[in-house]
Amino acid sequence: MKKALYSGSFDPMTNGHLDIIRRASRMFDQLVVGVIYNPNKQPLFTLEERVEMIIDATSDLPNVSVDDFSGLLADYVNDNHFDAVVRGLRATSDFEYEIQMAQMNARLFTPGTESVFLMTSPEYSFISSSMIKEVVSLNGKVEGLVPDNILREIKKKNLGGLSL
Ligand code: COA
Repeated sequence: MKKALYSGSFDPMTNGHLDIIRRASRMFDQLVVGVIYNPNKQPLFTLEERVEMIIDATSDLPNVSVDDFSGLLADYVNDNHFDAVVRGLRATSDFEYEIQMAQMNARLFTPGTESVFLMTSPEYSFISSSMIKEVVSLNGKVEGLVPDNILREIKKKNLGGLSL
C-alpha cells in the first residue's frame, strides 16, 4: 500500500491545490494532506480552520485524509512512513526552490522515500493563496479559483484592512 503526503500552508487551500490532491489521490492508495503549523507566520486562517476547510472540500475523496504537523517535514515523513511527498509545480520559477528542497529532503528522508512532482493544470497555474487574499481584500472576484466552502469562509473574514 503506497502512502503519500501533500504538504503546505494552505492559507487558504485553492482549486490549484485541490487539483493536485485529486490527481495524487488517484496515484496513491492513501494521500494525507499535511497542513503545516509555522510559528513564524501569521496566517489568515488558524491551523484548525485550515484543516476543517480542507476536510470539507475533500469529503468526496475516500482515500484522502487531513493532518497537521510542525517542525521538520522530513521528521514527519519518516515518523509516519510515507512513501512519497507530492509537490505541485506551477511555473519554472517554482523549480529552483523545489529542487533545493527535494535534494535537501532526499538526504533527510528514510531511503526510498521520493519527492514526486505534478505539473499544475494550466487553468490554475497563476493562483497562489496570497493572490487570492489580495484580490478578495480589494473586492475582486475569486469565484472558481477556490472551493465554494472556502470562498464562504474567506468572505466571513474582514479582509478590507489586511496588509499582505
Ligand atoms: N496551486 C495553487 N497554489 C500553489 C500550488 C498549486 N498547485 N502550489 C503552491 N502554491 C502556492 C501556495 O498557495 C503558496 O502561496 P502563498 O505563498 O501565496 O501562500 C505558495 O505557492 C507556496 O506554497 P508551498 O510551496 O506549498 O509552500 P508552503 O510555505 O505552503 O509550504 C512546505 C512548504 C511545508 C513544504 C515547506 O515549507 C516545509 O517543508 N516546511 C517545513 C520545514 C522544513 O522541513 N524545512 C526544510 C525543507 S528542506
